[in-house]
Amino acid sequence: MKKQSKVIVLLRMIKLVKPLTGFMIMAVFFGTMGFLAAEFIPILGGFAVINALGGNTWLSLKAIFIALPILAILRAIFRLSEQRTNHYIAFTLLAIIRDRVFKALRKLCPAKLEGKDKGDLISLITSDVELLEVFYAHTISPICIAIVTELLMCVFIGCFHPLLGVVALIAYLCVGVFLPMIISKRSGTMGDDLRAMSGELSAHMLENIRGIDDTMQYSYGNVRLNEITEKTNELSKKQGLLSRLTGTNMALANTMILISDIVMLGVCALLYKNGYVGFDGFLIPLIALMSSFGPVTALAALGTTLQSTVASGARVLAVIDETPVTEDITGKEKTEFDGAKVKNVSFGYERKDTESEVLKNVSLDVNKNRIIGIVGKSGCGKSTLLKLLMRFWKVNEGEISISGKSIDEINTENLREMESYMTQETQLFKDTIANNIRIGKLDATDEEVVEACKKASIHDFIMTLPDGYETEVGELGSTLSGGERQRIGLARAFLHDAPFILLDEPTSNLDSLNEAVVLKSLKESAKEKTVLLVSHRQSTMRIADETIAMESGRFS
Ligand SMILES: Nc1ncnc2c1ncn2[C@@H]1O[C@H](COP(=O)(O)OP(=O)(O)OP(=O)(O)O)[C@@H](O)[C@H]1O
Ligand SMILES: [Mg+2]
Repeated sequence: MKKQSKVIVLLRMIKLVKPLTGFMIMAVFFGTMGFLAAEFIPILGGFAVINALGGNTWLSLKAIFIALPILAILRAIFRLSEQRTNHYIAFTLLAIIRDRVFKALRKLCPAKLEGKDKGDLISLITSDVELLEVFYAHTISPICIAIVTELLMCVFIGCFHPLLGVVALIAYLCVGVFLPMIISKRSGTMGDDLRAMSGELSAHMLENIRGIDDTMQYSYGNVRLNEITEKTNELSKKQGLLSRLTGTNMALANTMILISDIVMLGVCALLYKNGYVGFDGFLIPLIALMSSFGPVTALAALGTTLQSTVASGARVLAVIDETPVTEDITGKEKTEFDGAKVKNVSFGYERKDTESEVLKNVSLDVNKNRIIGIVGKSGCGKSTLLKLLMRFWKVNEGEISISGKSIDEINTENLREMESYMTQETQLFKDTIANNIRIGKLDATDEEVVEACKKASIHDFIMTLPDGYETEVGELGSTLSGGERQRIGLARAFLHDAPFILLDEPTSNLDSLNEAVVLKSLKESAKEKTVLLVSHRQSTMRIADETIAMESGRFS
């Protein structure tokens, strides 16, 4: 993934708000009015004091006492409205961003995701996107609110004496701009490190749960336990550091506010003593400054989070930007299946390196209504060839064609309709068995599902389950045996009912009885279908009309 500068990431993140600009302006308006209402409560108090002391103010004592509760109520209403608007913006944007991330992941599937750390991807979809909520609800508008509110306060304070306005401006800049910059520098990549560490710990835990059988078998438990303890300790140490840093930052902000108040007190006193301002010019600017640090303190807190927010944003944008290995093809004429051809194909997963090519100048004719078997040592490239026929990856050299048309010229949807691909590992979803099989054809009738299951020799087993086809399958199909899973995968492939069936080790986990049923179904379906069959088993290969041996990426 490309590295982007922080500023570009920030600008791109801000750009996403564009469709919600109206709401953003509303949030800033509500926020500013809310703060002003809060700040004017003590300021009016100041005026009341001056009034009580017999001084001249533009508001009578009665008016002040009527205004105070009104301001308090307005403060609450504006604050609530600001929070609601900001969260509406944030969660609407998160939905948009999630949608874009999922679309990007769909495009990148499966090639670009094969080698990726799945734990990291999960953190990206969950915590990274979640963290952007902080940016959209608690960063953009608070910055705008702080700028507008504090500028208005500077003008208000400056009305008493321009010098006081300047003092206020400097105080706001110190707390709201310079301090967050220092804090951000001090916290460095700590927030991001923390995220990486907790992501690693969850991935480690997930691995432990999945690999519990192997761990117990080889008495590997203590090693894994020590690793967990080590990772947990590191994490809590880092969390402690961050909490301490946050504490110091708060103390720093409060000290800076206190110093500003003292400076203001000094300047006000000086101006009052020398007759530049009256008593109101001494008291009101001081109260105004003291009560108006709310918007800028909100910014001081951003210093610790901004780095990790930008890092999360960068990761999310990088996934959205990543180019897939193969783009989906649309807009071409529909093709009917009439045999496939692999011509002089070379392919390596690392594209530039010809040394590590998995397939070397492979050619193969798959004529219609035939069963072609491919045998070969583990790792010689059989599954790779099937993936290329599915156009999951792009060939480096040569061409793969269907019905005489290059597969790069066939609509992706059309290609998937023509091909039924059963991988070496059948993935089951946490759903009923019927729905797991229906993945092959979403609108299949119950009869069609049963028919496919009979062909795959799994119907009888399903009928023994307490809820039959409606039985829930555990996550990853862990409640089913390897052979049962495989036959469900086969049922899916049969249900998909495509003219070209690609089967990768369809019988590796089956006993000979089930294998015989499956092979019989395959042989029968081959009257009108074409089958490319990869298998290590001689018994399975017997149904092939033609068997080709593959050796280190070549057909021998
Ligand atoms: N996504 C990938 N990235 C890099 N290398 C890969 C990837 N997938 C497979 N390979 C490598 O490509 C080679 C061929 O793998 P392939 O899965 O095609 O073998 P196979 O013939 O199907 O083996 P088996 O009989 O064990 O299933 C192997 O060396 C494998 O390690
Ligand atoms: Mg394989």
